[in-house]
Amino acid sequence: MRRFVIAGNWKMHKKTEEAVNLALELVPLMSDVRSVDVVLCPPFTALDAVGQVLRTSGLYLGSQNMHYEDEGAFTGEVAPAMLLPLGVTHAILGHSERRQLFGEDDTLINLKVRKAVTVGLIPILCVGETLEEREGGITEEVVGRQLDGGLEEVKIADPEALIVAYEPIWAIGTGRTASPEQAQEVHAYIRARLTQFFGAETAGKMRIQYGGRVKPDNAGELMAQPDIDGALVGGASLDAGSFAEIVRSA
Ligand code: PGA
Repeated sequence: MRRFVIAGNWKMHKKTEEAVNLALELVPLMSDVRSVDVVLCPPFTALDAVGQVLRTSGLYLGSQNMHYEDEGAFTGEVAPAMLLPLGVTHAILGHSERRQLFGEDDTLINLKVRKAVTVGLIPILCVGETLEEREGGITEEVVGRQLDGGLEEVKIADPEALIVAYEPIWAIGTGRTASPEQAQEVHAYIRARLTQFFGAETAGKMRIQYGGRVKPDNAGELMAQPDIDGALVGGASLDAGSFAEIVRSA
């Protein structure tokens, strides 16, 4: 019923030429993929060049962050209006690395989500708990707070205009991974929370990705869960073969 959406978050990897080569490798591997939305999120410096490779490929281009203003004195930031002409369609917002290493909070993330929706970029809003929070039994409380903060006053006309990614922080870039059941439990909770914001019909059609050590060997069972509608892939998206296998297991 919901179309799977799989995004590759290349993080701070790949110089422009390397990024172009990875995109060139991926495009033919994805040429017969019809039933999955695939989004590549290279670093800002490679967006333009990768965008040109993707132009007629049917693959989408995403940024890993953005500012919420159109322009101004914001040294080091990138405005959505600068991303749109490059063909960018999605923006990862509130990734746990932005929250933990760069001090982003729900208020700031909310400004970005609202801006993205307004200009027609699809936010991939990331939420997720730390190991300490999970062990303390407050996963739902933490994820609920991140959703409430991030989605305040967000209005969407189309259920596909916003994607939520559940990424348990303890499973990102570590050897640990959430079991499909653990992930499904939180995904079901997220969908219930989305219902409060957008109503049951819209929430039922919204996509919720799972992220955190998604690999070819676990992607299939994760995405077989009823409320897991795709994946946000870090490490494994840097290898064309692995990423293609993940896409094919949706
Ligand atoms: P990982 O990263 O797949 O390398 O765990 C996921 C993410 O941070 O989006």
